[in-house]
Amino acid sequence: MKKVWKKASDYVPLLILLSEIGATKNFVRTSSKKIAEVTAVSQQTASRHLKQLEEEGLIIRKNVDKTGQALLITKEGLRILSEIYAVLGRTLQPERETFEISGYVITGLGEGAYYMTREPYVQQFTEKLSFKPWPGTLNLKLDEIEDLKNFIKLRAKTPIIIKGFKTKERIFGDVDCHPVKINEKVDGTIIIPTRTHHNSKIMEVVAPINLREKFKLKDGMKVTVKTIL
Ligand SMILES: Cc1cc2nc3c(=O)[nH]c(=O)nc-3n(C[C@H](O)[C@H](O)[C@H](O)COP(=O)(O)O)c2cc1C
Repeated sequence: MKKVWKKASDYVPLLILLSEIGATKNFVRTSSKKIAEVTAVSQQTASRHLKQLEEEGLIIRKNVDKTGQALLITKEGLRILSEIYAVLGRTLQPERETFEISGYVITGLGEGAYYMTREPYVQQFTEKLSFKPWPGTLNLKLDEIEDLKNFIKLRAKTPIIIKGFKTKERIFGDVDCHPVKINEKVDGTIIIPTRTHHNSKIMEVVAPINLREKFKLKDGMKVTVKTIL
């Protein structure tokens, strides 16, 4: 267990309760009687716990009288709460599924290059995916049912969104991205344009390099991508 928690371990639930009633930001007036009721301990125990929290430097108490007291969680108290929050965030997060999808290289109409060189797209790819995309997309045809199923499931995941834009002539749509490792070697992304002439059996992949050259790809060859967490 983390060292910082040891001193507070007996009173962590109370600290959490105080955070819930707003004592992380301002002094909050309450009483040991009320706390006793909520935490199902005797009033004496609640009172002792509050004193102990104060002695440990985790809360400040003021205006203590018969009717109650004003409580504020200190920086040290907040630090302990943040530690707990970070650990729970890591351990309780639903497990993120990874997807492996294979498809067969096909030649498209060559429009990918046009889209991948539009400046507002390029800029966002560079910012949001941390690479400057090679001007072109690799089209993969998904022939196996498992790959199609995984592609459908992947589409339901939260994507990185490359926002669309308008020019005088036309509208360019949003593009959903799911970062992947391609053939276990190259980092890139699956792109799913919200407006496309492709059917859902075609998956497009983009990378900072020319994937056809890198993997010496010809039409019909198999390429596998794996989503990166
Ligand atoms: C970044 C990006 C944005 C796109 N935006 C659009 C769009 O707004 N409208 C559209 O019809 N197709 C859009 N497409 C999809 C293309 O129509 C096409 O499906 C794809 O790029 C592959 O073209 P290809 O089969 O000619 O290789 C976009 C493609 C990319 C790569």
